[in-house]
Amino acid sequence: MITVLGAGGNTGGRVVRRLRAAGEPTRAVGRDAARLADAVGHGAEPVVGDITDRSFLAEAFRGAEAAYVLMPLDLAAAGYRPQQEQVGTAIAAALGDAGVPRVVALSALGADVEHGTGFLETLYEQEQRLAALDAAVTVLRPGVFFESFLPVLPQMRATGVYRDTIDPDVALPMLATADIGDAAAGALLDTAASGVRELHGPEDLTMRDATARLGEVLGIPSRYERAPDGEVRAALVGAGLPADVVEEQLAMFAAFNRGDAQSRTGRSAATTTPTTLEQWARTPARTPS
Ligand SMILES: NC(=O)c1ccc[n+]([C@@H]2O[C@H](COP(=O)([O-])OP(=O)(O)OC[C@H]3O[C@@H](n4cnc5c(N)ncnc54)[C@H](OP(=O)(O)O)[C@@H]3O)[C@@H](O)[C@H]2O)c1
Repeated sequence: MITVLGAGGNTGGRVVRRLRAAGEPTRAVGRDAARLADAVGHGAEPVVGDITDRSFLAEAFRGAEAAYVLMPLDLAAAGYRPQQEQVGTAIAAALGDAGVPRVVALSALGADVEHGTGFLETLYEQEQRLAALDAAVTVLRPGVFFESFLPVLPQMRATGVYRDTIDPDVALPMLATADIGDAAAGALLDTAASGVRELHGPEDLTMRDATARLGEVLGIPSRYERAPDGEVRAALVGAGLPADVVEEQLAMFAAFNRGDAQSRTGRSAATTTPTTLEQWARTPARTPS
């Protein structure tokens, strides 16, 4: 039996489907039973609760041969750092309480850098917590999710321009979360898996290229422009994002521009995932109405 956190989300949902297709008994964890309906439809056992609660989590992990863990962002939480600390410590403690022997953790490229990377710093901290467990830990370090473009599609549609603080010609590994789910499920089912695995998508992409290619497939011709931090800060706070979350994003994008979130291992067949940006964009669920 394998326990999957974030089972109603992008990667966790895919992990559940893959595990169930392989015939693996699976516990699907999330806060809202309705968002676990797909997992249940695939034969997973729903486990509804909050992953900041160590004792709830220890029960969700009890008897599991392996667990998929991640660090969800919660915009309703009182602060990004306290929320991540709460989730990270609860997960690590509960994995220890339940004695889960194998763990597959979603992290990110750049999570090997301790300071100066914004959002990624809490993934660095979580990697340290998990490394201290008496368990075989597989750390997945993907690049930028294609799904990160979803919130900016309205801006592209309205203006034909996507303005943000990543330098336009910095090439970044970008990939589909479905492919991360597939890699995670593979590691969960492989009793010999452990160590760090980077995931790069089919190619590195600049924001300039990715925006143009996405716009073309979606029929919203668009170009990318580098905006000043102050402009993006004002726009995101104005749109209702918490100020501390905005600063984490600006710091992470500055780290991207410095090259701090690049691959350490280099691209290989093992790190290259199949779904292209165009294939992802053509998936009906991803196409905006
Ligand atoms: N965006 C990127 O480019 C990128 C790149 C590299 C790594 N990452 C990592 O990937 C993570 C996101 O992964 P994802 O896209 O698979 O996640 P996701 O789609 O955002 O799903 C997260 C899931 O966690 C659940 N959840 C949130 N808070 C919870 C809580 N307190 N208790 C129980 N369940 C909770 C949510 O379900 P309910 O709300 O129903 O509980 C949701 O289904 C990021 O947080 C980051 O660490 C992101």
